[in-house]
Amino acid sequence: MSTSASHATPNTTPAWWRDAVIYQVYLPSFADSNGDGWGDLAGVRSKLGYLRGLGVDALWLTPWYASPMVDGGYDVADFRAINPLFGDLSEAEKLIEEAHALGLRIIPDIVPNHTSDQHVWFREALAAGPGSPERDRYIFRPGRGENGELPPNNWPSRFGGSAWKCITDANGKPGEWYLHLYAPEQPDLNWRNPEVRAEFRDILRFWFDRGVDGFRIDVAHGNIKQVGLPDIMPGADEATDGSHPYRDHEGLEDLFAEWREVADEYDGDRTFVAELWLPSTRRMARHLRPGLLHTAFNFNFLRTAWEPNALRAVIDDTLETHAEVGAPPTWVLSNHDVVRHVSRFGRPPRGWGNGQRYVIEGPLDLELGQKRARAAAMLTLSLPGGCYVYQGDELGLAQVEDLPDEALRDPIWENSGRTQRGRDGCRVPLPWSDESAPFGFSPSGLGNETWLPQPASWAGSTVADQGGTANSMLNFYREALSIRGELAALGDGALSWNESPSEVLDFSRAPGFRCLVNLSKSSVPLPSKAKVLLASVQLTDGELPPEAAVWLAVKEAVVE
Ligand code: NOJ
Repeated sequence: MSTSASHATPNTTPAWWRDAVIYQVYLPSFADSNGDGWGDLAGVRSKLGYLRGLGVDALWLTPWYASPMVDGGYDVADFRAINPLFGDLSEAEKLIEEAHALGLRIIPDIVPNHTSDQHVWFREALAAGPGSPERDRYIFRPGRGENGELPPNNWPSRFGGSAWKCITDANGKPGEWYLHLYAPEQPDLNWRNPEVRAEFRDILRFWFDRGVDGFRIDVAHGNIKQVGLPDIMPGADEATDGSHPYRDHEGLEDLFAEWREVADEYDGDRTFVAELWLPSTRRMARHLRPGLLHTAFNFNFLRTAWEPNALRAVIDDTLETHAEVGAPPTWVLSNHDVVRHVSRFGRPPRGWGNGQRYVIEGPLDLELGQKRARAAAMLTLSLPGGCYVYQGDELGLAQVEDLPDEALRDPIWENSGRTQRGRDGCRVPLPWSDESAPFGFSPSGLGNETWLPQPASWAGSTVADQGGTANSMLNFYREALSIRGELAALGDGALSWNESPSEVLDFSRAPGFRCLVNLSKSSVPLPSKAKVLLASVQLTDGELPPEAAVWLAVKEAVVE
């Protein structure tokens, strides 16, 4: 087994995660090496050169663990084994080593809120019966109603229906109910049980010992449930005082502090990035205080419409709340759970209520969406802190909106009674080359179809096509990332807003950098005496057209 010392991370700049650009690899859809139609670790290894050339600092890989794949691997059957679909442990070790040799860090996902129903613990829990220590690792309760025929409380599953499932006892009679905030195949763990806590500390060490640079923590907001499991009251989802019975509930801090201690046992600035879907950025930032987590995804930014005042407000809120706790913000536009931002920005804005993040309505203006996506990339890459790029962002991919019903794999489709189509449209396997499916995702000639079908319209937009096209989204990303890497002004730090028309975002960063994003309907003049470093569109007449961004080198350091 490799030790942490032998895996000393490649570039020992302190706190690399404060301004890293992290590329999200959605493992099933990144690159398939063996032709079975599913992405795998050898596929990722074969593309490390591409990722290094793109200019990112680290990879977040969605769950690689043994799993029946009911929820894309977020249903883990064994946290110490690699899913054979993706490879094996030695393949993971090779990936870590090769990535490190190229200066890329590796951040796997960890899924503490729940396991698969195929996990040995859950099987033991079913076999052991009510009141047993085995059941106490999960959340089993008797039902309500005269004969226990009603779920223990009113909590809904995020995937549709009740969050409770009644089991059938060995005698064929209905038994206890267990909690599953996601699919019924994803039973929630009991984080008030010391054995669960000890097991996960051990799992973290298992992977830290193998050299991983950190973890992305799935559903970090949901692990601690209120004692007594009371009903969710109206308005609780919007509450920012911790009164929700399982979202951001009291006790999370102890858990995060415990995990931080484990990370701090290791050299090389190991890091956590938390999935914390919370209505308030301040509440989120509380979890990033010293001794707790390092960073969290900025979902309030992701949820913000392409609208200048809303963007300025969320940027200010983010900077202020993160500065209060000394943590760097992150900027994220897309991931495997939301409609791709090209498709969001190419439509009028819509709400983000329960389930709304999966919904697509109205005709798409693809050209507008892609134009805004370029400007948004320049905005996020020049704001203070770290940045996430979801695989395919760099190709300007839009949501695949016409997957046939029979192709859908997201458990949301069935669990919602086929009322919500779910997230498959942002998870379609990447197009690497060639004129038709599988577009170089799988080796050609093996005949297996990709696990989700790719649209024929991707012909001409593959990595190979875009690599050879001067003004492609891919080359634009490469250039933006290269400039970001070179400029001392970008990454961690502060910004100052310049006076500008209300529909133009205009900020400076020291030394000598200025970014303008024009969200108005008319062109705005560029400041004089500034050198254009990068523009999201072709500039003419010293003006920045609507729906475009520009990075400028300015002589004076404009931030005091
Ligand atoms: C968040 C993950 O990003 C999502 O894909 C998954 O379905 C849920 N957590 C449940 O693990």
